[in-house]
Amino acid sequence: MNPATQRPWRIAVIPGDGIGTEVATAAVGVLEAAARAFGLELDFVWFDLGAEKYLREGVSLPDPVFEDLRDHYDAIFLGALGDPRVPGQRHAHDILLGLRMRLDLYINQRPVKLLHPDLTPLKGKTAQDLDFVIFRENTEGLYVGVGGTFKQGTPDEIAINEMISTRRGVERIIRAAFEHARGRGLKRVCMADKANVLTHAHGLWQRVFKEVRAEYPDIESRHLYADVAAMELVRAPEDFDVIVTSNMFGDLLSDLAAQLVGGLGLAPSGNVHPGKAGLFEPVHGSAPPLAGQDVANPFAMILTGAQMLEWLGAEAAGAAIEEAVRQALAAGEATRDLGGTLGTRAAGAAVTARISAG
Ligand code: NAD
Ligand code: IPM
Ligand code: MN
Repeated sequence: MNPATQRPWRIAVIPGDGIGTEVATAAVGVLEAAARAFGLELDFVWFDLGAEKYLREGVSLPDPVFEDLRDHYDAIFLGALGDPRVPGQRHAHDILLGLRMRLDLYINQRPVKLLHPDLTPLKGKTAQDLDFVIFRENTEGLYVGVGGTFKQGTPDEIAINEMISTRRGVERIIRAAFEHARGRGLKRVCMADKANVLTHAHGLWQRVFKEVRAEYPDIESRHLYADVAAMELVRAPEDFDVIVTSNMFGDLLSDLAAQLVGGLGLAPSGNVHPGKAGLFEPVHGSAPPLAGQDVANPFAMILTGAQMLEWLGAEAAGAAIEEAVRQALAAGEATRDLGGTLGTRAAGAAVTARISAG
């Protein structure tokens, strides 16, 4: 789906905190090379949002900035948010979860693909076995922030976070997963839930799944409880094409899945709503211990850039970026989390050079 109506595409870059700035800089360099190679016009506008600004000015995502992001961009390209100096990660909550919720980006699409055979810790599994996508519900569940505390700081303290599932919210993410499968010629959709415990919220997921899957008789569908899904991802990843799941379980399963193909340094994601501008960010966070040392792996952010271009409709450029990362990995051009010796900037430059060389 292509939300952009005309070129140049306007991309809002929010580098954010910690390694976010470093990986965003490397990835924008790659995107600029891809734009030159493929005749795309990408107009990048950098936004100073994150912990520094929050600590300096006390603001996270001011309304005029939110409205600008909402109204004037084809996509948002975000590094990471999170800083140990900010109590409760208030700024990250406002910016990251705020954008997901307020822009109603209900699909968190997290592809999982093995780009080099040596990167999986699973014995005997190949690139054919490790190629699936997680459709994580992104606007409801345990992430709604509904709840509160009572008698805080006393022995009688009560703390509540409510899990919200709506008929509309559940149906649209399940339908998106089936549509994705059908559109890509994928054969299998698996829902991961805990309807055995969360009888109300995930009872609804079960009922909606049964209804929606009846409309897609061409696609094999099954459900697994989320705990078993975690186990099955390790035992038989080849059994999955599309996994659809709730917000919190999607968060957990996507980190597990990332490690099956080399770790968070290689895991891209997009927060999208067909027809709207999306928010693209790596699955990883701001990795404070790595920040400022030029050691973070920029490939997750670079692959996120590829995912963004594909979403915008520049499929060939997106595919070329993924291929350049694949070739860089094959040549051992990687950061130290993958056993390489390159720094963030050099790893980004290695991908850029491959794209520029055609
Ligand atoms: P993290 O993803 O930052 O780090 C987890 C582990 O993975 C660490 O060992 C880290 O060194 C490693 N890692 C992550 N990205 C890497 C990369 N690109 N290259 C090499 N190694 C990498 O998760 P965390 O430590 O739990 O969280 C740190 C902060 O980031 C917290 O404030 C958290 O809330 C935030 N966070 C933000 C996002 C986001 O902005 N989308 C996502 C996850 C966590
Ligand atoms: C992710 C992150 C976020 C989430 C945090 C930082 C709020 O872990 O994008 O996976 O839980 O969604
Ligand atoms: Mn996460």
